Amino acid sequence: PVLVVDFGAQYAQLIARRVREAQVYSEVVPHTTPVAELLERDPAAIVLSGGPASVYAADAPGVDPALFEAGVPVFGICYGFQAMAQALGGVVERTGTREYGRTDLAADGGVLHDALPGRHPVWMSHGDAVTKAPDGFAVTATSQGAPVAAFEDTGRRFAGVQYHPEVGHSPHGQEVLRRFLHDVAGIRPQWTTASIVDEQVERIKAQIGDGKAICGLSGGVDSAVAAALVQRAIGDRLTCVFVDHGLLRAGERAQVERDYVSATGVKLVTVDARERFLSALAGVTDPEQKRKIIGREFIRVFEQAELDLQAAAGGEKFRFLVQGTLYPDVVESGGGTGTANIKSHHNVGGLPEDLEFELVEPLRALFKDEVRRVGLELGLPETIVHRQPFPGPGLGIRIIGEVTADRLETLRAADAIARDELTAAGLDRDIWQCPVVLLADVRSVGVQGDGRTYGHPIVLRPVSSEDAMTADWTRLPYDVLERISTRITNEVAEVNRVVLDVTSKPPGTIEWE
Ligand code: XMP
Repeated sequence: PVLVVDFGAQYAQLIARRVREAQVYSEVVPHTTPVAELLERDPAAIVLSGGPASVYAADAPGVDPALFEAGVPVFGICYGFQAMAQALGGVVERTGTREYGRTDLAADGGVLHDALPGRHPVWMSHGDAVTKAPDGFAVTATSQGAPVAAFEDTGRRFAGVQYHPEVGHSPHGQEVLRRFLHDVAGIRPQWTTASIVDEQVERIKAQIGDGKAICGLSGGVDSAVAAALVQRAIGDRLTCVFVDHGLLRAGERAQVERDYVSATGVKLVTVDARERFLSALAGVTDPEQKRKIIGREFIRVFEQAELDLQAAAGGEKFRFLVQGTLYPDVVESGGGTGTANIKSHHNVGGLPEDLEFELVEPLRALFKDEVRRVGLELGLPETIVHRQPFPGPGLGIRIIGEVTADRLETLRAADAIARDELTAAGLDRDIWQCPVVLLADVRSVGVQGDGRTYGHPIVLRPVSSEDAMTADWTRLPYDVLERISTRITNEVAEVNRVVLDVTSKPPGTIEWE
């Protein structure tokens, strides 16, 4: 792999993704990893990321000069560029000129910047600057605040840039990174979607052998792609379980039962647990209580399904449980080195850790965009591959008040209209998601036809987000809002008012409960 050494900025994962976009496999490792350990992994190259520190700070994480003795190609970015310059005998100074944001780069030749426009914009974020490159390096770019904004020593296969090539604001950044990987480091681009599928299928075969596996499908993209990969590897020794808890949106069960199965040929068992969830939720209005009940019932239903399947298979146990854990979860729980026995933080549908299964996690090395590409490669429908997030507790946490069968029907109808119109307007990829919420305990007076109505409000909560940690309310076009509002109040009997939630996160969360 290419190892991206994380100096603590938020950019390391983004760099790893960009390296993969150049079709080279990469992983993120903490900057505290000793050089010997980095080299043990036989890296094709090492990328030193940006970071918040100044190389002058007393506790600045440095770069061990031994890294440069191993014959491994190294690329430094921002802080990593300065640390690299310092370790190799260059000079880093406080020039007093800070550069933040869009900056004009004057680039001149070399491998990295050859034939790019002589002046082009890049994204900078630095206070210190390299004022003298180490011996043996050619300086190939400068900017107002960075006398040495890029350098390269192609003989030793070292290079670096002061700016951030990984961000979209550096329009030639990806090309520069690609040139380092392919032309300076000499790495062959082999990380393609087809190669990911082949490699994962081989791994899964090796792990599961002739055993049997079970997978809980949620309807979301991660579990769908994980199951499809495992199915490709072990065929009908995989059984998928889909729990219909009655809190699904219109068409979701059919989508899994019909579209997913016809695309993959997977063996699927649907458990109809609608009654069970409804009775468990009767009389409950507290959001946390609802979530706990739904989680608890889900586990019970899944466990029972597994026992039933086991009995039907003549008592043979399902030893393996497939989960859709993604690479960012692995990095964030400190498991970036990919060694075994790291506890998975991410459980499909909240299955508990004491279920006696061995985990199969075929997406552990992948970013979300790679998962979607793998899904398409495996022939999954677009509707599944590009599905927006939907919470496990489903419509249960979008009815404010008690959950009843009638209220679910009302909300499902309103939600289907909103989704229809958003899709028809081509807005699905512009929004993160649009929860539709029923204020079941609120009524307001209205007039429809000749009569007075006394119905419930529906709240539209369209949001834009990168990662759901923060979000902004989406400025949907008025004509789309109008169509949604008109249709919901006309077509859904219990609803006489549609309101728009214009709260960002924070202070509001995306869901209402
Ligand atoms: P909040 O409401 O916390 O939601 O701003 C952030 C994102 O997470 C989704 N969400 C959930 N997803 N199980 C899930 O799988 C849950 O219990 C759950 N609660 C919220 C929510 O839809 C949004 O995308």
